[in-house]
Amino acid sequence: MTEKNAILKVEGHDDISLPIYTPTIGQDVIDVASLTSKGLFTFDPGFTSTASCESKITYIDGEKGQLLHRGYSIEELANKSDYLEVCYLLLFGELPTAEQKESFVSTVKNHTMVHEQLQFFYRGFRRDAHPMAVMCGVVGALSAFYHDSTDIKNPTHREVTAYRLIAKMPTIAAMCYKYSAGQPFMYPRNDLSYSENFLHMMFGTPCEESKISPVLAKAMDRIFILHADHEQNASTSTVRLAGSSGANPFACIAAGISALWGPAHGGANEAVLNMLDQIGDVSNIDAYIAKAKDKNDPFKLMGFGHRVYKNYDPRASVMRESCHEVLNELGIHDPQLELAMKLEEIALSDPYFKEKKLFPNVDFYSGIILKAMGIPTSMFTVIFALSRTVGWIAHWNEMISNPYKIGRPRQLYTGYDERKFTPVNERK
Ligand code: SDX
Repeated sequence: MTEKNAILKVEGHDDISLPIYTPTIGQDVIDVASLTSKGLFTFDPGFTSTASCESKITYIDGEKGQLLHRGYSIEELANKSDYLEVCYLLLFGELPTAEQKESFVSTVKNHTMVHEQLQFFYRGFRRDAHPMAVMCGVVGALSAFYHDSTDIKNPTHREVTAYRLIAKMPTIAAMCYKYSAGQPFMYPRNDLSYSENFLHMMFGTPCEESKISPVLAKAMDRIFILHADHEQNASTSTVRLAGSSGANPFACIAAGISALWGPAHGGANEAVLNMLDQIGDVSNIDAYIAKAKDKNDPFKLMGFGHRVYKNYDPRASVMRESCHEVLNELGIHDPQLELAMKLEEIALSDPYFKEKKLFPNVDFYSGIILKAMGIPTSMFTVIFALSRTVGWIAHWNEMISNPYKIGRPRQLYTGYDERKFTPVNERK
């Protein structure tokens, strides 16, 4: 990073010189760390103008609608790579050679089973528990199973933890679905690919051999790739913050799952389908667009808008293409897709959405594909969490393997100044 300087002029203070760092690509950043020693804080709720860390993993250009993982575009990766290869890339920084890939895939395959005790955690939940609530609990519980790899300063322990999480998330996710359906858990199979295995554990039964459509397996793998990582989003920032205290990595991932659940973040894919149900028919679109534009109406067009993208989310474009492929392949005519396409067309031509640069994001189409694949709406964010686990653990590992501090933001305090305690019998 080359250093330039910004000069901050604050009444009552000498000019303050702040270093400016220039990234490989993207915006310059101003290092404000020294302001505390001058008795000053910055104020940036929602971190809209704050770079929380240095990272080499993912780059997003919101204006161009560009997403790079270790320099490779999401379009190239989605069309030419596969999820486990993208996992290797995110974790180790380079695409694997054929030999490295074979070893990585084999290692993941041999970690897909969960401890036999883990299944008993599910029984504590009602069958109608939201699967994300179950994921938070069960993934957090993994912290209690792997005492052999919790020295976070040990690179081998960190690597084993990454393998375990990438390998076990599909098993745990599928168990969430099976538990809610009252069906027996399915063991993973080492003769299947990562996405075939997930579909087998989701829809297979002990009564017959699983028949997995290669089209669905490919679509599932592409969905995993599209959700793998996305820079310092809310859930990844949560994992980094939890990890900065030295917490158990499985607990940090459980924290990320909790943050992802919100409808403003990973919960949006489920919220999109619920919104399309609420809109119901093309004739109602204008009324809902008006609600979305009404400042006094809390309704937002789910699947639209993004903190960083002020152009089309490149993942949404790939997802849209996959959506048509899957529905055509399955011969499904989904009125919700028609409704979604019409909604997108009307919204993108509306001055409000154009002016505020609100485009469809990754969640707008993912729900429609997942629904077409027979996955219940309540499982959509679980699949997002499964996919994003590699991104979370890659960022956690990047932080822990470099010098870091515990994250501890400050605040703008607007509460009472010091005041005397009043005994209860004197309070009015
Ligand atoms: C994900 O960060 C990531 O990278 C996340 C993610 C990832 O891969 O990790 O990409 C995944 O979370 C995608 C986003 C999924 N969420 C949704 O689709 C929910 C609907 N979208 C909104 O909630 C909103 O767009 C956010 C939360 C995504 C972004 O919100 P910001 O950046 O805080 O922007 P904002 O709420 O300040 O909105 C700016 C303006 C506001 O109007 P004004 O106050 O300026 O008048 O745009 C309006 C908002 O009211 N606006 C919307 C809108 N989104 C923003 N108006 C109607 N419908 C919307 N969807």
